[in-house]
Amino acid sequence: MKVTARAHTNIALIKYWGKRDKKLFLPYNSSLSLTLDAFYTDTTVSFIDQKEDVFLLNGELQSKEETQKISTFIQRFRDLSSLEKKVKVESWNHVPTAAGLASSASAYAALAMALNELFQLSLSKEELSIYARQGSGSSTRSLFGGFVEWQKGTKQDGTDSYAVPILAPEECPVGMIFCLINQEKKKISSREGMNRTVETSPFYSGWVESAATDLVQMKKAIAKKDIPMIGELTEKSALKMHATTLGANPPFTYLEPFSWEVIRKVQEWRQEGHTCYATMDAGPNVKILCPKEEISLLQQKIKETFPNLETICSLPGSGAQILSIEK
Ligand code: PMV
Repeated sequence: MKVTARAHTNIALIKYWGKRDKKLFLPYNSSLSLTLDAFYTDTTVSFIDQKEDVFLLNGELQSKEETQKISTFIQRFRDLSSLEKKVKVESWNHVPTAAGLASSASAYAALAMALNELFQLSLSKEELSIYARQGSGSSTRSLFGGFVEWQKGTKQDGTDSYAVPILAPEECPVGMIFCLINQEKKKISSREGMNRTVETSPFYSGWVESAATDLVQMKKAIAKKDIPMIGELTEKSALKMHATTLGANPPFTYLEPFSWEVIRKVQEWRQEGHTCYATMDAGPNVKILCPKEEISLLQQKIKETFPNLETICSLPGSGAQILSIEK
């Protein structure tokens, strides 16, 4: 049997930043994201008669180290089904080449979705989000489309730390413009960055506290489809997250001077009456959140202001799905 699944990537509006359990990927705070239609991963899985799992990404056979990560992930599905078969994983990332955008979110969500079908486990998307979480935290949210909450949970075993859908993609009134500031691979991974922040930044406790209240406000804003409120909370969450890294030891930042130039412009345009807000993750790229109807106009403004800055627009995307099953 050969199963192909697709999952879209997501960008957090209320960020996940810091693990209370590094092994189980349990976060200190709940987060909330928007799944996007522009970037996705397609993953095909099949059983093979070999001693080890095989992992190909964009047609290239992956290193032992990368394959080991995937094998650890697959092992949980083997344990659940009691089938000890090895698996071939072929993944294709549909992220514009060298865009410097994280694809782990869509990758683990697509893989979890495909393995569920291959091992015939009939797990729900909530349950699959628990497994995806253990590949990469942000992938927890990519099982669902539109606005999605990753509830941090309180149990030690992580069984209540999963994603739930908040609003379907067609109901979400916003889109995003990705500004590709720097396409190089980041020097400090999100994993290393958040661990260092949790362990050394005196600002971290303030982050955890305010993320909880921001999330409550964000859910109210989404229920009212209040775009300015959604946007303000989004920008504040991103800036607070990036502030924690400056307090870490040694201090670090993912943002570059050009990131700040774009953020300042977004704030300026807002003062001129445009509805636009900035958010940034573990890298220098700035994403601009705006009403769907204003995407083209704002993209044009970016082009006029920063002629050399590459941008990609995205609308809300759907949840993970099975594309095909070949028997
Ligand atoms: O799950 P990771 O390792 O991709 O970490 C994601 C961290 C942020 O992108 C900065 C925030 C988030 O919630 O996606």
